[in-house]
Amino acid sequence: AAIEKGGYDHFMLKEINEQPETIFDCLRGRLIATTGQIIMSGIDNNIDILVNAQRIVIVACGTSWHAGLVAEYFFEELCRIPVEVEYASEFRYRNPIISKGDVIIAISQSGETADTLVALENAKEQGAFIFGVVNAVGSSIARLSHAGAYTHSGPEIGVASTKAFTGQLAVLMMMGLKIAYAKGTIDHNRYVELMKSLESVPEKVKEILANVDTIKAIAEKYKDAKDFLFLGRGYNFPVALEGALKLKEVSYIHAEGYPAAEMKHGPIALVDENLPVVFAATKDRYYEKIVSNVQEIKARKGKVIAVASMGDEVIPNMANDTMFVSDIDEVIAPILSVVPLQLLSYFIGIAKGFDVDKPRNLAKSVTVE
Ligand code: G6P
Repeated sequence: AAIEKGGYDHFMLKEINEQPETIFDCLRGRLIATTGQIIMSGIDNNIDILVNAQRIVIVACGTSWHAGLVAEYFFEELCRIPVEVEYASEFRYRNPIISKGDVIIAISQSGETADTLVALENAKEQGAFIFGVVNAVGSSIARLSHAGAYTHSGPEIGVASTKAFTGQLAVLMMMGLKIAYAKGTIDHNRYVELMKSLESVPEKVKEILANVDTIKAIAEKYKDAKDFLFLGRGYNFPVALEGALKLKEVSYIHAEGYPAAEMKHGPIALVDENLPVVFAATKDRYYEKIVSNVQEIKARKGKVIAVASMGDEVIPNMANDTMFVSDIDEVIAPILSVVPLQLLSYFIGIAKGFDVDKPRNLAKSVTVE
């Protein structure tokens, strides 16, 4: 087992550290920024269906559902196609309206999640086109899909998903870029700019991983908190949800993820000097707004832990603790800003002495409902 873990103490840490390579593998041979090409046969062969989709419905569970939420933001922005993101377990039972022009994107690491699989079977019977974003090659969901793109993240053993999530984001981002460009909803310059940003991700993940000691120290400092709040806006909102989920999964600390502005409608009542509030607060169009949200937490004596852009001096000055990520286009930012949160959860779980690879009550793949 020690050999399988490649020198790491846990699969979770190994898989977090593999992300520069797994994201690179996912992009390799597909994204060629120098020639402005993205080659993905599952998309190329069905480009008319995708470009003409009247609606995209994303169906998934758990962390994969969070990848779907990120996709909602950029598909709507870049492709101008309405998107809905559905929990598979809800979608399958509520007699959803599915029409012929609907494209369903199924996101699943394992390709075996029972609720997702059945939701897709139902949608397929009703005439929807199913596109699978799957990690496990040849899995049930991969076979059921009309077309798809593998994430190429390699086997994920840790129950808490890490590298599969960033692989899903990379695939979905390439997919969104391809559709947007074919549809004419983004111009050539923006298309190439975003391709270059995406191409830079593996190197920028490496930089985060090189600063692991800072994150470990933050984990030690906050490991005894009873609750955590995770906040973000826009592209970083799903990152807040994923950060909270990771922490719950591996540290058994109660954590809630919320859109930063929506916190005024409830969670702010919980803020006091004992509550750590984690902000995914990289530089983007919401930056000024998130700065005021940080102030609101500080005014109530909450402890602020920020994920901030390198070079930012405002948020790090206000926050009690900061984890830096490289500045990157806001559309691509989630793939970076989630990485410090994965590490934070890992180190808190370890500090509390838990088996982060096999958290109690959780399964890697939920194949029964
Ligand atoms: C379980 C796993 C999660 C995963 C979810 C969906 O809850 O513990 O890590 O995100 O299932 O799994 P899938 O394989 O469909 O992505």
